[in-house]
Formats: sequence, C-alpha cells, structure tokens
Amino acid sequence: MRFIRRLSACYWKNNRFSQRFQSNGRPTAPLGSRFLLDPDKVFDHNMWDHIQWSQEDEERAAEKAIENSLVRIQPELQDKYEREASKHWNEFYKTHQNNFFKDRNWLFMEFPEILPEEEREHCMKIDTRLCEDDHLCENNPAVKTSSVHNFGSCSDDSAVNLQSVKQSGKEFPGSDATYRILEVGCGAGNSVFPILRALCNIPRVFLYCCDFASKAVELVKSHPFFDPSRCFAFVHDVCDDTSPYPFPEESLDVILLIFVLASVHPDRTQGIINRLARLLKPGGMILFRDRGRYDVTQLRFKKGFCLSENFYMRRDGTRVYFFTKDEVHNLFSSAGLIEVQNEMVRRLQVNRKKRVKIHRVWIQSKFQKPLWLTRSKQEYALHNHSS
Ligand SMILES: C[S@@+](CC[C@H](N)C(=O)[O-])C[C@H]1O[C@@H](n2cnc3c(N)ncnc32)[C@H](O)[C@@H]1O
Repeated sequence: MRFIRRLSACYWKNNRFSQRFQSNGRPTAPLGSRFLLDPDKVFDHNMWDHIQWSQEDEERAAEKAIENSLVRIQPELQDKYEREASKHWNEFYKTHQNNFFKDRNWLFMEFPEILPEEEREHCMKIDTRLCEDDHLCENNPAVKTSSVHNFGSCSDDSAVNLQSVKQSGKEFPGSDATYRILEVGCGAGNSVFPILRALCNIPRVFLYCCDFASKAVELVKSHPFFDPSRCFAFVHDVCDDTSPYPFPEESLDVILLIFVLASVHPDRTQGIINRLARLLKPGGMILFRDRGRYDVTQLRFKKGFCLSENFYMRRDGTRVYFFTKDEVHNLFSSAGLIEVQNEMVRRLQVNRKKRVKIHRVWIQSKFQKPLWLTRSKQEYALHNHSS
C-alpha cells in the first residue's frame, strides 16, 4: 500500500513537471499562444499555432489527396475491414500497450466544460493542484460516494429515461453522481487518467469510458490509478446501436470524442452522433477533437490505401477519416445540437535538425443540447430532417 502511495505521489509529481517544462528544461509555451509573425524565424521553435494556409497551399494539398485516392481498396476487402475493425484496434493495443498516445494534458485548457462550472477554475490550474498526495483522494469521504454495483436498469432497454430509473429506485454505475462524463473510444486512458486526476478532490462527478477494443479497456482497468468508485470502463462498439449503455438516456453532462469518430466508417457517423445526443441531459455538451482535412497524415498516404473519399486504411488495418469544419457542423446540427465552437486548427510542426516543416490540421468543436430538446422533440426533429 505504501509503495502504491509513493508511486502515486511520483506519478502526479512527474505529470506536473511534464506540463511545465520541456526536456531541455525550458518552460513550455501554452497551447495556441505561439504565432509565427516573421517567416524567417520558422526554425526558432518546434511548433507554431494558428497557421494561415494560402490558396496555393490549399490547392497543393487537394491535389495530393486526389492523387493518393486514385486507387481504391476493393469493396470485398472494405467490408472485411469494417467487420474486423475492433480486431485491428485490439491488435494495436496488444502491440503498443499504453505507450502510443500521449496523455491529453491540454484537455482542461481546451475543454474546461469537462467539469462542473464551479470546478473549472481549479482545472485551469490543474498542474498546481495538491494531488501529489493520494491521501487527499483516499481520505476524502465525498469521493467514495458513487456506487458501482447492482446495475440492471439498462441491460434490456438502452432507451430508458433517467427520471423513470430514478423513480424505480434502480441503481446504475454512477447513479448517485450529479455530474456524469462519458469518453467514447477511450483507448488506453490518455484522457481518462488526466480526468481522474482532476476529479480526485471533486465529489459526485462520475466518469464512464468505453472502447470496442477489449484490450484497451483492460489496460484502463489495470492501471494503478484506475478508481472504480469514480469511473466505469466498459467494452462498447458505438456503431452497434443495439448495444446498451450502462446508464439511461438524458443522464450525461459531457461526452468526449477525442480522435475516435475518424476511426469509424463515415456512413456510420451520423447515426452515432444521433444516439449520443440522446444520452445527453438537456444543456449537456459534446466535446470533439479529431483529424482535419489535409493533415500531413492524410497527404502522406501512398496510393492503394484509400477506402473512399478522405477515408484511408493504415498498414495495421485501422482506418482514418479526415473531416472538414462544415461536415462536423452538419453532423452535430442534424442531431439537434447547437454549435458553441467549431474550429479548424492549423499548426506547424518543425523539425529543426532536419529543417522540415509539417502541417498538422485538426477540428475542435463543442456542441450543446438545447435545454428544450427532450427525447420526443429530438425524434421529431430527426424525422423531419431525414424526410
Ligand atoms: C486514435 S484512438 C484515440 C484513443 C483516445 N481517445 C485518445 O485520445 O488517446 C481511437 C480509439 O477509438 C476506438 N474506436 C474506434 N472505433 C470504435 C467504435 N466503433 N466503438 C468504440 N471505440 C472505437 C479505438 O479502439 C481506439 O481506441
């Protein structure tokens, strides 16, 4: 026990430091704050924010994407990759374990809405929190209030309403929390653990996380800082709309989608978002970050890896789609959600040694469920939109 505590103190301490300093000991610039004003200084730093693309840059990128999409993967093989999607991600996590993605330490800076409003100021200063001391979490009775047992309310009907569950007195994981967060496609927990770290001193907030790769969920659950009293991790395929969630509809405050929707077939995306929107409480939010059109990783694909327009297969069998801002807007608006933020973020990464410049593009968005959007109204809106 003492060993775990020491390990824990060390983890928080290291994490704190990794956010404040680079390996060369220089302090890091906060995300989004480094502007390239003088092009001659491009090799002075390894990263520049808010890069503007010229029309020429845009056209050159479009040409590359057209060129690498000329040869498409055969339809039979495409079906096979769709059927075996979870198998490939499972292999991915067996190979890389939790060593591939970095902890998403930018989460609270970019998405303060992850936590209840009254806690947001603390999160912005997350690296100065006193969380090095795990006694703080262990001894705080408030953080142990959530129950993770006796779940049975949603197993036969994923569409049950929170009110009816409450009235029936049935419990589900996190049923006594007042604020609930779900991360879809959580992978090995690179967002889960920064969130759990932030929750350590905040009572009645509960985190759910799911992934269709069982190996990923296993990695999350076996992590020394996984806390089943604050978090419920489960295997779930978001493309399977018959598969129930372990909580009722309209029970979530926040849904996090971090680099996950790009992994699913673009024909499935709208259905996924419609269903996720139903899980949100009125006023709840979806926080989204994913691959943007003409990111360097799209332009680097060789011919023969394209599945359909802007959708590719990687060598390991996992797939990736590259979104535009308008597509993202349409997807979430069609599900009845209101745009709060929707930005195409362009960043320039620089390899100073090799004198190479790399353009990164992603989309960052926030969409909110209107307070008046109840389930029946959402169904009405969806029906009218599709007809
Ligand atoms: C690029 S990784 C991102 C992981 C994590 N969100 C992060 O930011 O580190 C994409 C994740 O989505 C998961 N995923 C892909 N398709 C999914 C689906 N249909 N249902 C659930 N998870 C899925 C993969 O297994 C993988 O863990």
